[in-house]
Amino acid sequence: MACDNDPMPQPYEYDVLIIGSGAAGLTVALNLPEHLKICVVSKADISSGATLWAQGGIAAVLDDQDSTENHVQDTLAAGGGLCNEEAVRFTVENSKESIEWLIGTGVDFTRDTDAQLHLTREGGHSHRRIIHAADATGYAVSTTLTAQAQARPNIELRSGRVAVDLITNRKLALPGNRCVGAYILNLEDNHVELFRARFTVIATGGASKAYRYTTNPDGASGDGIAMAWRAGCRVANMEFNQFHPTCLYHPHAKSFLITEAVRGEGGLLKLPDGSRFMDRFDKRGELAPRDIVARAIDHEMKRLGADHLYLDISHKPADFIRHHFPTIYEKCLEFGIDITREPIPVVPAAHYTCGGIVSDERARTDINQLYVVGEAGFTGLHGANRMASNSLLECLVYGRAAAADITRREADIPPPPDAPAWDESQVRDSDEDVVISHNWDELRHFMWDYVGIVRTTKRLQRAKHRVDLLSAEISEFYSNYRVTNDLLELRNLVTVSDLIICSALQRKESRGLHYTLDYPGLLHEARDTVLIPTTYRTPSP
Ligand code: FAD
Ligand code: SIN
Repeated sequence: MACDNDPMPQPYEYDVLIIGSGAAGLTVALNLPEHLKICVVSKADISSGATLWAQGGIAAVLDDQDSTENHVQDTLAAGGGLCNEEAVRFTVENSKESIEWLIGTGVDFTRDTDAQLHLTREGGHSHRRIIHAADATGYAVSTTLTAQAQARPNIELRSGRVAVDLITNRKLALPGNRCVGAYILNLEDNHVELFRARFTVIATGGASKAYRYTTNPDGASGDGIAMAWRAGCRVANMEFNQFHPTCLYHPHAKSFLITEAVRGEGGLLKLPDGSRFMDRFDKRGELAPRDIVARAIDHEMKRLGADHLYLDISHKPADFIRHHFPTIYEKCLEFGIDITREPIPVVPAAHYTCGGIVSDERARTDINQLYVVGEAGFTGLHGANRMASNSLLECLVYGRAAAADITRREADIPPPPDAPAWDESQVRDSDEDVVISHNWDELRHFMWDYVGIVRTTKRLQRAKHRVDLLSAEISEFYSNYRVTNDLLELRNLVTVSDLIICSALQRKESRGLHYTLDYPGLLHEARDTVLIPTTYRTPSP
């Protein structure tokens, strides 16, 4: 899309360009030295990614009765034998310091009457180790980090800016394997602008919008993963999309999660006749890891032909419920459900992308000066199933690691080379937006039906056939029409869906979140599914 001889000025040049303003992106920004000129872009409001909506909390070893080894072993067990143990140890060993940093920024976590941090429990954890701000942890984290970033003169926060594609030396036909920045659509005037930077950080979150039902906010369309793939980065373990067991079931409730902490504090899963069922599936009952609970609910719903099942905490004192879960209490009440007196109707929904852009302990990717942090990345921490509340922790630990690495290297990295402005001379405004909305719906429907909680090879092949057709149609559309946010999101969703399907077809076993009726057993050796783009080049050290 870009042409070499465009005379447009190049006003945006930074030391560090961070794409995404969730916990991951803002952690990087706030841990960089103040002499660096930093820009954080977000396609929506600065506080609007998945981080804002996080409920349960952040896992960390903060209690004397707990230990690093316990947290490591729980994470490895939940991950179905596929976690990279080094990444798990690195994350857990850095958890306390990261939480201390976060508390230092001013996040107000819930405390007991003796002023100690209150620790709750979630599935897969053998101890109470989740710190939280009631049931709205993400709101506390997101608003606090945003306020901190707003107060820093060296950080520019730009909302309404959608990254379209990364710019690399390879695209510019220059030697080397370096990231130069990104083309960014300004939603205020619908023009694509050039942002050059010495370092670029992808912090764009996950891709759960590929599914019809999801707990995620709009915008979780896997943009960073798709952009990095197009630019030549490897992507791993995309078949492991996590389905959260308990999303509120109500015709007017859009994507409202009922935190796992409800089960951690004694909530029980029930069938429509009021009986419990989780003990038939796992001896840990309601507190089994998420893949097991979501599959059990799916199984029981299909067996009974039910639209939903129930999560019941009404046996606990009403004051206790209102104190621990004020947001959920209020939200359910809006829909006429009083959770202190009656069970909550729930269904599973797509929640978290365990795979992503391959990165190392410094958050470096396959392209020099390009980093990835948070849900968009693949560090090896989560294996085949992420343990609850390890995600925000990963954002903090790897966000700080990326900032430390950039700080160490920045004196040696020269300014980015010039790059051409975006070329719109060959495109026109679309007169057929219905193509986008139709394809968007079709994609999310077949991903839910064919690439969901229970898979078969035949269903995956059907999905592959359809995604190939959509891919061809969207590429043509993209070449002929001016870009819009909807078109960009659809283009990226088609790419990540293709990556999910191809990864799922490659895995000939059932492990963690990937369950297929054609290969119900576990292979002896646990291996990551690493997809390599044709444009892949080994980065220099
Ligand atoms: P996000 O917070 O999703 O931020 C992504 C950012 O990227 C946004 O600013 C977005 O605007 C921007 N962006 C995306 N694409 C582009 C683009 N093309 N151009 C410009 N900007 C772009 N995890 C836990 O550990 N504990 C919990 O209790 C918990 N609860 C959760 C509850 C819910 C309802 C959900 C949905 C998730 C929950 N998770 C939880 C998961 C966790 O919240 C996310 O994994 C984490 O917040 C991801 O952070 P992030 O910074 O990587 O991305
Ligand atoms: C929840 O609160 O149940 C979500 C926790 C998570 O996704 O880690």
